[in-house]
Amino acid sequence: MIGASISRWTMSYFAMALAWLFLALSLMMAGVGYPFAEVASPDTLVLVHAVGIGWLSIAMCGALFQFVPVLVAKPLFSEKWALPALVLLTAGLVSLIGGFLSLGGRLPPSLWLLPLGAILLVAGFGLVVVDLGLTAWLRPAGPARFVLAGLASLCATAAFGAVFAFALAGWAGSAGNALLAAGIPLHAIAGLGGWLTLTAMGVSYRLLSMFMLSPDVDERQSRMTLGAGALAIGMTVAGGILAIGLASGLSVVLSIVAVFGLASAALYGRDIAGIFRARKRRQLELNMRMATLSFASLAATALLGIALVVTDGFAAHIGPFAFLAVFGWLSGLVLAKLYKIVAFLTWLETYGPVMGRAPTPRVQDLVAEGRATKWFVIYYVAVWAGTLTLLVGEPYAFRMAAAAMTVGVVGIVREVIRTRRLADVASPVRLPGGAIAPHLLFARN
Ligand code: HEM
Repeated sequence: MIGASISRWTMSYFAMALAWLFLALSLMMAGVGYPFAEVASPDTLVLVHAVGIGWLSIAMCGALFQFVPVLVAKPLFSEKWALPALVLLTAGLVSLIGGFLSLGGRLPPSLWLLPLGAILLVAGFGLVVVDLGLTAWLRPAGPARFVLAGLASLCATAAFGAVFAFALAGWAGSAGNALLAAGIPLHAIAGLGGWLTLTAMGVSYRLLSMFMLSPDVDERQSRMTLGAGALAIGMTVAGGILAIGLASGLSVVLSIVAVFGLASAALYGRDIAGIFRARKRRQLELNMRMATLSFASLAATALLGIALVVTDGFAAHIGPFAFLAVFGWLSGLVLAKLYKIVAFLTWLETYGPVMGRAPTPRVQDLVAEGRATKWFVIYYVAVWAGTLTLLVGEPYAFRMAAAAMTVGVVGIVREVIRTRRLADVASPVRLPGGAIAPHLLFARN
């Protein structure tokens, strides 16, 4: 990433994403939504979108604004769109959540908030997709292909979501109602499996080889991984819509999707193991060690899914399955990488301009890994314990697990803020030769 320009608003995206994560954790601790309410209840929809859009999608967009230009070695198509997109996404999510609260009777009837939220979200995601898509399109090789597939899945997710929002407000006609009645798994798979998982896979290939000094993953291998994943998502969207149109039920389509999805996860495991084996940096940094716990959670999610299907318990236990995928695999990876990205960008922003003119610290001098490790361990153990409480149907124990997850995340965020403030850098090299301390929430370029 050296030599790349710093995305001005990536830190603002991360801060907003973490604020939504804290809101979601507070709801889980307070017992709002699943497992205290049905999976499809309005309260659960609030929780699902605070996590799926507020935390994961906003964090991913922030990371991509920094990262896609590095992947393709070209500047971002338009740096100016990042802030308006963040404003639109935030306003859209607030409105969508207002609509869900009104749907559940927690707010006076105002279902128009749902389509309004959908329009704002489609506009916000639209800016992100066009900006990143036009940038990645310039050199669509390797990890950039995963990002393009992820962005295409995001379009499908937002389109399904918008139809649902209009249908719930009674504005979508009979076709919209048919999609709402049967199409929710398609929206969820396109969002979690397509947009978030394919993008996280692509970004992780590059970050892993960069931070572990390993050769890039073989292009043919990663193409197979992406091919299986893209087939799964293509089948979800095209096959799913066709099946709903023919009123033939989704079970055949979803079985095919599961096979391709599992194949893609297994091939990804093979690729990642290859990157680890070929690494030149033998000593693993904290973010890498923690990323391995996230990969283990992805493998555990796949095994859990297989076990539930074999025992005919998938529909009854979709909650713990989705929880482990969202908090063990996706959120764990985002937290581990965020810890490293913040340190790296802060270092680049502060010391890049004075490099060669004064002695500067190393990136690792900005973090205190010994102290941070325990917060990550608390987080992951709490997520795994939370999954177990959901599997055995102990919602009160789940609240305790959510509290422990919150302790872990508070600890991690405190470490990230200390990194941004250069609080762990020894004073002689903290601000050498006229270096300026960074702003907490945005880059000063
Ligand atoms: C434009 C953006 C989006 C809009 C307008 C939207 C809207 C909706 C609506 C209206 C529903 C409820 C359908 C119903 O059960 O009545 C829904 C369900 C769902 N959405 Fe979204 N959504 C959006 C983006 C996302 C994203 C990015 C994700 C995840 C990555 C996501 C994950 C889900 C899931 C998992 C459900 C099913 C939840 C459950 O049944 O508890 N959505 N969405």
